[in-house]
Amino acid sequence: MEILVQPNPETASALAAAAIAKAIYEKPTTVLGLATGSTPLALYRELIRLHRDEGLDFSKVRTFNLDEYLGLSPDHPASYSHFMRVNFFAHVNLNPQRTHIPSGLVSQETIPAHCEHYEEEIAQAGGIDIQILGIGSDGHIGFNEPSSSLTSRTRIKTLTERTRLDNSAHFVNPDDVPHHVITMGIGTIMEARKIFLLAFGENKATAVAGAAEGPITASLPASILQMHRHAHFYIDPLAASKLTRLAYYEWVLAHKPAWQRDDIAAR
Ligand code: F6R
Repeated sequence: MEILVQPNPETASALAAAAIAKAIYEKPTTVLGLATGSTPLALYRELIRLHRDEGLDFSKVRTFNLDEYLGLSPDHPASYSHFMRVNFFAHVNLNPQRTHIPSGLVSQETIPAHCEHYEEEIAQAGGIDIQILGIGSDGHIGFNEPSSSLTSRTRIKTLTERTRLDNSAHFVNPDDVPHHVITMGIGTIMEARKIFLLAFGENKATAVAGAAEGPITASLPASILQMHRHAHFYIDPLAASKLTRLAYYEWVLAHKPAWQRDDIAAR
């Protein structure tokens, strides 16, 4: 794992964006796995800036989002479809036909087929090159809540009350947060070639420490990332504050060879 502690969320997001830009310059058909929530907002802003000011071309990129609330239409202001359009898709030259988000309107009987189809679409695209992740305060990735199978595939999940509360700010009434979601599974996420996890703020410190340094356990789903060969954590000092090997991670970063640095290589 690579733990990249940056001075603030903006610099951490810019570093992740530079690595994504580098991947797209090298492979214009890059397949991105995308996350929603407050965490990736600065990353999307920086990717939009790179598109606008430096001509980063998304026309051949394909995207797959992690999850969607069941019961919300794509036009619902709290749906992840709406989130992606407003915060990213509308501002870059992504072909809408190359963007994929699980449907929130799928009927109960067709959920398994819909999830299987989502997995097939990812496979047909050649798999995900870079998966962007946030992390829940309980250690969830995607909407794989604690106790999720560490080999799970795309499926319906029930949110914990804690996650519903964490996400309630996006809804008019906290009771409006759906109980169910469709989410990529942990096994699905782990098949991505690279994983970029972003985490900012004190509220994420316990989850980040468990993910990077705790035992691998379904009780903290992000801990499975220890088994991934290319997992990179882009975090701020507050999210890093409970890591016990912080000094070593900073030492590694300070001694990173120039040829390995995305901030230089992407320019
Ligand atoms: C979002 C997702 C979630 C969030 C997590 C953190 O698509 O899958 O795992 O990344 O809940 O949310 P924020 O960033 O709002 O703290």
